[in-house]
Amino acid sequence: MNILITGSNGQLGNEMRVLSKQHPNHRYFFADVVEAENVYILDITDSKVVSNFVAANAIDLIVNCAAYTNVDKAEEDEATALKINAEALTVLGGQGVRVIHVSTDYVFSGDEHVPCRETDPVAPRTAYGRTKYEGEKRLLAVCPDAVILRTAWLYSTYGNNFVKTMIRLGQEKESLGVVFDQIGTPTYAADLAWAIFTVIESPVWRPGIYHFTNEGVCSWYDFTIAIHELAGIKKCKVRPILSEEYQYKTPRPHYSVLDKTKFKKTFGVEIPYWLDGLKRCIAKL
Ligand SMILES: NC(=O)c1ccc[n+]([C@@H]2O[C@H](COP(=O)([O-])OP(=O)(O)OC[C@H]3O[C@@H](n4cnc5c(N)ncnc54)[C@H](OP(=O)(O)O)[C@@H]3O)[C@@H](O)[C@H]2O)c1
Repeated sequence: MNILITGSNGQLGNEMRVLSKQHPNHRYFFADVVEAENVYILDITDSKVVSNFVAANAIDLIVNCAAYTNVDKAEEDEATALKINAEALTVLGGQGVRVIHVSTDYVFSGDEHVPCRETDPVAPRTAYGRTKYEGEKRLLAVCPDAVILRTAWLYSTYGNNFVKTMIRLGQEKESLGVVFDQIGTPTYAADLAWAIFTVIESPVWRPGIYHFTNEGVCSWYDFTIAIHELAGIKKCKVRPILSEEYQYKTPRPHYSVLDKTKFKKTFGVEIPYWLDGLKRCIAKL
């Protein structure tokens, strides 16, 4: 297949490039809005450019890793977030080719106490969550056989993320307060890329919405303790604090664990535990 990977300069896009080396049976077109080595310039909001690119390169499948991911900035500029996270999905979904799209736990309210299933009612509480949910709907309206993977708490060796920030702060500070009243599942973007290739290589195309994160749950506080232990940071004391003490610009979900039963049953796979993913990531950093 000829596969277009959008947003390829991001965390997930980079991990897709790494894993693509293990799948040489396909031809890959890595693209992003910003120029980089071996990356085509492609703005997913530009319908003409996307159509021309898909036709010129006989693309069979689009894997959309592009998104407006800054949760705080999305509150101030929901129009731009909507353009990239939602309007562009009409463009990508309207090309007459298969689409694998990535969405988020932020489509849920975060008020739940049990892991969310794909069939649970959505109730986004942020501009980012609203625009991502709108993107799911717009994609399915024009491309009902798309695959949508909702994920959460992504980190990787690429880009800026929580793991890298906690390593830097752990090296700079003697003490650090980290919230313990937000529960979720840290997810190594390399494992999400593996999930995407699981979908691609499946003998039968199985459309629908799926939840995918690593296994297990923890708080940001527990996550930080594990990061510091694995990175050999000993001098920084990590303190558990409440979300209200941190003063987030945008409220964060208190419980955003996703139930992955559907993905595991459909594709017959087991998913790595979050600490296992973290070990592999930190070993590479
Ligand atoms: N990060 C998380 O914790 C998390 C959690 C749940 C779900 N997700 C979802 O997972 C997916 C991958 O996330 P990620 O962390 O890999 O994101 P990321 O690192 O922010 O990468 C997104 C990439 O898309 C690019 N992009 C932005 N606008 C574009 C446009 N109009 N056309 C083409 N490319 C554009 C970005 O470029 P610029 O950086 O230059 O804007 C960036 O290179 C996204 O769908 C995200 O919503 C992420």
